[in-house]
Amino acid sequence: AAGPAAAVLRDPVANYPRSVSGMFQMGVPAQDAFPAKVWARTVTRAARASAEAPLRYPDPRGEALLRTAIAAYLAVARGMACSAAQVFITSGHTAAIALAVQALGLRGGQAWCEDPGYPLTRRTLAALGVAGVPVPVDALGLDVAAGLAAAPQAVLAVVTPGQQAPLGATLSVERRQALLGWAAQAGAWVLEDDYLGELQLPPGRAMPALAAQDAGGRVLHVGTFSKTINPSLRLGFLVVPAAQVARFDEAAALFGSAPAPLLQQAVAEFLQGGHLLRHLRRMKQLYASRRDAIVASLQAQSATCRTAGLSVLLRLPPGMDDVALALRVRQHGLAPVPLSPWYADPQPHHAGLVLGVANVPEGEAAAHCRQLLGLVEGQQRG
Ligand SMILES: Cc1ncc(COP(=O)(O)O)c(C=O)c1O
Repeated sequence: AAGPAAAVLRDPVANYPRSVSGMFQMGVPAQDAFPAKVWARTVTRAARASAEAPLRYPDPRGEALLRTAIAAYLAVARGMACSAAQVFITSGHTAAIALAVQALGLRGGQAWCEDPGYPLTRRTLAALGVAGVPVPVDALGLDVAAGLAAAPQAVLAVVTPGQQAPLGATLSVERRQALLGWAAQAGAWVLEDDYLGELQLPPGRAMPALAAQDAGGRVLHVGTFSKTINPSLRLGFLVVPAAQVARFDEAAALFGSAPAPLLQQAVAEFLQGGHLLRHLRRMKQLYASRRDAIVASLQAQSATCRTAGLSVLLRLPPGMDDVALALRVRQHGLAPVPLSPWYADPQPHHAGLVLGVANVPEGEAAAHCRQLLGLVEGQQRG
């Protein structure tokens, strides 16, 4: 029924499931290009080892093997110098936020949140007693000056510096410096949501992580395997400044969310065997080709769009109900997400669709885009 489905799209927090599969599905890796056999073998090996290992309660901070593998991987992939002790394994983004708020005692404070930005971030912070302050983003990423004007005393800023979610801008060098300068001076924290990691597509060059530039020890770096291996693993990580390790050790003992050690073991082997880096190198090319095919198809049909991370943003006529449209296209096997719910205060000119590019084969892009634009036109005609 349209009612509950619309509620899911408007408010993806209180309603389940959060995503449906279909063409243009966002936030998932390519299924057809994943090295499934290598992965299945790795998981099987880890499951056997786990069945034969002595029984124990696992380390709530995560398995040492995976923490070490992630630290080594981040040095190569994101330019970060960190030790395994700084890496905490989590069940994903919201769990990482909860651990940080708990460890650093941020409850009762204010947090800058990108506007538009990932809806779950705002909602998670609110649930933890941290008041989100919407801060606008533009072509250079988060507007740090606007954040300073709105809430200079904030205790936290949550940013997507690599590729802003959902608009796609990379946080500029000057803004990075301004953000780190503010955090150092105010004693505030910056949570870097590095959800795409090194999946920053050509032709641009991948910027190093903000955490790699953090001389003052103010950045909490959050990563995930949802976009690189599989979102159903529920496996992510949080890298904290060296001086904060003891506080996070203590918080993790109570609130750690690391998933089953056998999964951690499998991911560690996948990393150490070089499989992930090799795979991602191929995916960058593949995703760039798929994205370009979608953009070319949309433009050939006179639609207004632009690229944003692993997505393409399709602008809609102002005032069009993008949630209603997303629901309508679902019935035709298309699963883009509406843009307006990413804004703290959605306005008519925010109408849009976010199209995931990862699972759209190049040869099929034109047909799917034609179908989508036909449905947009149908909605416009009412
Ligand atoms: C901006 C952003 N951050 C974080 C995540 C989720 O990460 P995880 O699956 O590790 O919770 C997503 C997933 O769509 C996202 O779009």
